[in-house]
Amino acid sequence: MRIIITDSYRQMGREAANMVAGQLYLKPDSVLGLATGSTPLPMYRRLIALHRSLGLDFSEVTTFNFDEYVGMAPDNPQSYHYFMNENFFRKVNIQPDHTHLPDGMVKDLEAEGHRYDALIQQNGGIDLQVLGIGQNAHIGFNEPDVKFEARTHCVALDEETIRANSRFFESPDEVPRDAISMGIKTIMMARRILLLANGTSKAEAVRKAVCSSVRPEAPASILQLHRDVTVILDRAAASHLPTHIEGTKIIHKNNGKNTTFSS
Ligand code: PGA
Repeated sequence: MRIIITDSYRQMGREAANMVAGQLYLKPDSVLGLATGSTPLPMYRRLIALHRSLGLDFSEVTTFNFDEYVGMAPDNPQSYHYFMNENFFRKVNIQPDHTHLPDGMVKDLEAEGHRYDALIQQNGGIDLQVLGIGQNAHIGFNEPDVKFEARTHCVALDEETIRANSRFFESPDEVPRDAISMGIKTIMMARRILLLANGTSKAEAVRKAVCSSVRPEAPASILQLHRDVTVILDRAAASHLPTHIEGTKIIHKNNGKNTTFSS
């Protein structure tokens, strides 16, 4: 693992966008795994800016999002389809039929999970997977559990997740109780993973992801077993990390410049 600690939420987004841009420079037809939520917003803003100012090209890119609420139509402003269209897809030159999210409206969610996993495979697998993390250390909607759920599946949301996500709704009662989410195996099969987190509310989840024992009660801890993970944080999200973590390079960036390395 490599951990980059930045000055701010905005800087976290810039670093993440630079990594995505580097990926597209090397492989213009990359398959990207994408996330919703407030965490990746500055990354999307920066990617849009790079598209407008430097012509960063998304015309050959294919994307697969992590998750969608069950029963939420794509044109519902609370849906993740809508979020992605408004915050990213409509603002770059990606081909709409190259963008994929699980369909939360279908009756047979199990079949939808199989379809989604098969589609990812047909597209050659995910080159770079961008992840946020929940306060309970979930990734996607893989909530703390007694086992790691492998494939794209239907999941009942944790009370903590419902509480956290209620900020996007009028009241907690409006937050859907179920979602369809990529599974842990689907995530772990990505060639590279980029985990982003900001704010003190994520500091403990980040510590669990990076240095606790690997266990399904802290789903993000599985990332320790992946061979190419970069974690990009703001200072607050990094505040529970020890100064040294065995086998992990920690890079501190001030105003985008490397200042300290430790490993
Ligand atoms: P957030 O959600 O980016 O809105 O904090 C992240 C997550 O729950 O995975």
